[in-house]
Amino acid sequence: MIPNTVAESLTKQMNLEFQAFYKYLAISSYCESKSLTGFAKWFGAQSEEEKVHAMKIYKYLLDQDQEIKLLPLTEPKAHFTSIKDAVATALENEKIVTKSICELMGVAIKENDYATHSFLKWFIDEQVEEEANVRNMLDQVTLVGDSGQGILMLDREFGARQGDKEEKESE
Ligand code: FEO
Repeated sequence: MIPNTVAESLTKQMNLEFQAFYKYLAISSYCESKSLTGFAKWFGAQSEEEKVHAMKIYKYLLDQDQEIKLLPLTEPKAHFTSIKDAVATALENEKIVTKSICELMGVAIKENDYATHSFLKWFIDEQVEEEANVRNMLDQVTLVGDSGQGILMLDREFGARQGDKEEKESE
């Protein structure tokens, strides 16, 4: 069993990860509507990854004999002024998720909940990587500026994303 405070914080985090799934799906649909199919694929894969994060927490809560509360999702932003605006929105979201995970870890530590502390380590590491990936994308999009050719080149590059995380996790 885990303390109620930790269970409540985990439930909120699970919702935030489902919300991230929704946000990335909206960004992917925006990219698709602009014929940026590579970016659309990248954000589509990212949205699936967010669902995996949410389901990791879902399973952990069940393993800890907790009730699953699926909270409502809010409508994500789906209109952007540019691909740079869309990527900047993604980075802001990752920062929100990182802050929330760190706060959740703080709750687990305060409650001497060693199991949840151990469980959350993966998420802490994952957030460092996720923020770095999106920041890298934002840097590159900023670098090419308004160059259509540059954006199309990046679109091809990001479209080549494979199931990198899946491969890493199965190692
Ligand atoms: Fe699951 Fe990108 O945070």
